[in-house]
Amino acid sequence: MLISQHEQTLDQLQGLVEKHGDQRNALIPILQDFRDQSGQITDYAMQAVANLLKIEPSEVYGVVSFYSFLSERPQGNFVIRLCRTISCDMAGKQAVARQLENDLGITFGETTKDGRFSLEWANCMGVCDQGPAMLVNETLYTKVSPEKVGEILDSFKSRA
Ligand code: FES
Repeated sequence: MLISQHEQTLDQLQGLVEKHGDQRNALIPILQDFRDQSGQITDYAMQAVANLLKIEPSEVYGVVSFYSFLSERPQGNFVIRLCRTISCDMAGKQAVARQLENDLGITFGETTKDGRFSLEWANCMGVCDQGPAMLVNETLYTKVSPEKVGEILDSFKSRA
């Protein structure tokens, strides 16, 4: 079941790459068409489109976070995506996740009441040797520790 969904996603994306081309500037049109056809851009689709365009998955995640019209649900001004794939998991992503939830007062999949921060899981971003990896909109952070979380959040809290 899961495999056939993945195959279908891949077929769809390959069709869109044929339509829009495989250069970096095709990323947004491809994501937009995919979103219109499928209703949402899954983690798998983000990974697959990164492979097809030969760019880092973190770049695709960043674009999807930045352009709210690509998101499947309303998101905060700052979308935090923490990698949950094995290398980052082993590097201590769970402690980072707990710290984020404590500091923001929300769990993964939620947005703070003031609409500023959303917390999302992500899959591998391609920087596995520098985990735990985390994206805030399009900014990538590596080797994130629970101690660093407060510092990172503060730097965004101070922005308009
Ligand atoms: S496992 Fe987290 S970046 Fe690859």
